[in-house]
Amino acid sequence: MAQREIRFGVIGCGLMGREFASAAARWCHLVNLDFVPRIVAACDLNGEAVGWFTANVPGLRLATVDYHELLADKTIEAIYCAVPHNLHKQIYIDTIKAGKHLLGEKPFGIDLPANRAILEAVKQNPGVLVRCSSQFPFFPGAYQIVQWIREQRFGQIIEVEAGFWHSSDLDPNKSINWKRQISTNGEYGCMGDLGMHVVHIPLRFGWKPASLKAFLSKIVKERPDKEGRRVPCETWDNAVLACEVATLDQQFPMFLSFKRIAPGHANTWFIRIQGTRLSAEFTTRNPKQLLSLPYTPGGAQEWRVVDIPYRSAYETITGGIFEFGFSDAILQMWAAFCDEITHGPGMKQFFSCVTPEETAASHELFTGALESQRINQVVQLA
Ligand SMILES: NC(=O)c1ccc[n+]([C@@H]2O[C@H](COP(=O)([O-])OP(=O)(O)OC[C@H]3O[C@@H](n4cnc5c(N)ncnc54)[C@H](O)[C@@H]3O)[C@@H](O)[C@H]2O)c1
Repeated sequence: MAQREIRFGVIGCGLMGREFASAAARWCHLVNLDFVPRIVAACDLNGEAVGWFTANVPGLRLATVDYHELLADKTIEAIYCAVPHNLHKQIYIDTIKAGKHLLGEKPFGIDLPANRAILEAVKQNPGVLVRCSSQFPFFPGAYQIVQWIREQRFGQIIEVEAGFWHSSDLDPNKSINWKRQISTNGEYGCMGDLGMHVVHIPLRFGWKPASLKAFLSKIVKERPDKEGRRVPCETWDNAVLACEVATLDQQFPMFLSFKRIAPGHANTWFIRIQGTRLSAEFTTRNPKQLLSLPYTPGGAQEWRVVDIPYRSAYETITGGIFEFGFSDAILQMWAAFCDEITHGPGMKQFFSCVTPEETAASHELFTGALESQRINQVVQLA
């Protein structure tokens, strides 16, 4: 099949920039696609980070410390940008104004005003595809749940719980980095860092909280810096939001949690939905397992546990008996972005990356959570 080549530049060659490069390198994993990304340029202030790209990305023809060089390059069609949150606003706006498609990282602006400025640039440049990264819904178990929501299989929603939990910050001797400082990560703390992953599916289906009560905690208040001095750890470690969702025809509680300190958890993303006709649960802790409980009135209430086959949004060479993992989800997400660049609304499967409007809704939620914490009350959201 003839493949349309989409030339990408990567801005920010750290943890996530490298994940992207690795996903591009194994594009042959995907089958029957008429598009292929090529990373042709990389930008980072850190020479070592760019050096990894120079060493590992064949076909890289531009390596620089200045992202404007990527934006000025007419042969580059799209940008993946993974930089600290304080830089999102400027770099995303510059990218959009340069006419490049953008897959940006969450939270899509360090705060609500930054997000609004990015959304304004999106509005002014309708020809550019702008999406935010969120890979977990592409795990086969999560994707199945998304399909069930779409098919309205749950009946009346009783309750939704979703979360993203980490635990490495339980160690008080873990060094401080930009993700624990307000100037670079933002006042949202763990919500800006983890929140978009949690709200992607709920927001996609219109489960936008009408009100919330936030419980935010700062657990480890100081951490060592590079010199070993203990410095303030400024950001919220954990956030639990008790929300009420009101849609046109439904009203239900939704509990969202974003935790940097959940003992024993390493990148645990989960969603649990209880409904009158179907309940279902998926967690990346048991990435092969999908739990579901279909119910008919008067019938038995029996949880089914299935080892879900490797059945992804985009077909792969992997056999159905094998396991799906984090890097597979990144590959699928990137396929969704490239699919949408190539086919627009006629993309090969229905689930797209996070839209700018969904990032705006997430910012309203996190800003509301800060307010709820400040006044220690339930906050109504617009
Ligand atoms: N999707 C996910 O699962 C996931 C996971 C982790 C982080 N993230 C997001 O990805 C983004 C980056 O996080 P990370 O963990 O990769 O951080 P990182 O610190 O590993 O990498 C960020 C890189 O940006 C570079 N940088 C800083 N200023 C720059 C500039 N002006 N121009 C070019 N490069 C610059 C830094 O040198 C660094 O190499 C954040 O928005 C974060 O929230 C997403």
